[in-house]
Amino acid sequence: MRQQAIALFRASFGTRPRAAASAPGRVNLIGEHTDYNGGPVLPVAIGARTTVAVGPGAPEVLEAVSTIDGRIVRVRWRDELPSGWAAYVAGVLRELWAHEVLPPDAGARVAIASDVPIGAGLSSSAALTVAAARALSLLAGQRVAPRQIAGIAYRAEHNHVGVRCGVMDQTIAALATAGHALLIECASLVTQAIPFRGRLLVVDTGVRHELAATPYNERVAECRAALLRLKVELPELLWLTAWPAAWVGRLKRALPQPLRNRALHVVGEATRTRFAAQLLRRSQLTRFGRLLYESHESCRRLYECSAPELDLVVTTAKRAGALGARMTGAGWGGSAIVLVRSRPEEGRLTAAICRSFRRAYGRDPDITPVRAGRGARREPV
Ligand code: GLA
Repeated sequence: MRQQAIALFRASFGTRPRAAASAPGRVNLIGEHTDYNGGPVLPVAIGARTTVAVGPGAPEVLEAVSTIDGRIVRVRWRDELPSGWAAYVAGVLRELWAHEVLPPDAGARVAIASDVPIGAGLSSSAALTVAAARALSLLAGQRVAPRQIAGIAYRAEHNHVGVRCGVMDQTIAALATAGHALLIECASLVTQAIPFRGRLLVVDTGVRHELAATPYNERVAECRAALLRLKVELPELLWLTAWPAAWVGRLKRALPQPLRNRALHVVGEATRTRFAAQLLRRSQLTRFGRLLYESHESCRRLYECSAPELDLVVTTAKRAGALGARMTGAGWGGSAIVLVRSRPEEGRLTAAICRSFRRAYGRDPDITPVRAGRGARREPV
């Protein structure tokens, strides 16, 4: 991807880039729709990455090009937000300016190459914003800490593009270490790297979505509404995930549907995720895997964010003896993960999933073995 980004930069702008950086996509092992509710998540970075090559441009102007479509987008980034992928880059420039990393009249040229599939639930947008934030801060000659990079990337997406996402994707893309999952407590941003030696298959169902076109923002609003009602019971409640897990009866009485189901998922998922992190630390993969199945069931039934293709992958994996499986990321399509014991099992499960998927949908899903990779890094130009 590095070579491609550099070659695209040269071909588009007729000069060499000054700096480059890359950032990974991610899968979330467990802790779905808990991040914007102040709870824990447990993602790992994957091998697929986005590389952003950058150079100086005309004052106040962003010129950006991507291998996606090869067209050069040209905007005054403070005044207008372009459509599509370029909006994320403009959002990053605005946030770098807000942090005084860039002056208000900064101009930049940006070329993007990526093998993180878009809309597959593998967080292509955070790979882009984190890589762009890192590359543009290098261009400005400023040292910006990884946590700040994550914050800049988060606000670019949340405040400028308008997806009411949580902090998980940007945080893992900026902070991941190879061979580790990262437990992120999203209310405090306390993180803990946990060795992850499991074998994972990522099954991309091919059902594509843009987060903004899914009920994602609706779920965020439902959670906020549930929190407001629960505050009547518990005035000091700041986050939905802080509701005491033992008070399920009280929660059920306080909330009408569908807020009740949404809140039950969020509260249960927070407990599962913290327990899962403990099990991972003790290498108890069998029990860990069981929690993945439970999490999927809760996403499907209570949060209603699964899709028939995802359910089929999980059911098939379970029947074929996988340690665990679940949808990963926002849902409503995208990808599922399958936790397997050994390499031979990887082959057996891949074949079983392909068979049942083909029978139901007449095509194969894209299945990739994944190991926990590393986070954002500078790339040589
Ligand atoms: C998307 C968002 C994340 C998180 C997940 C669901 O990936 O970007 O912040 O909310 O959905 O867990």
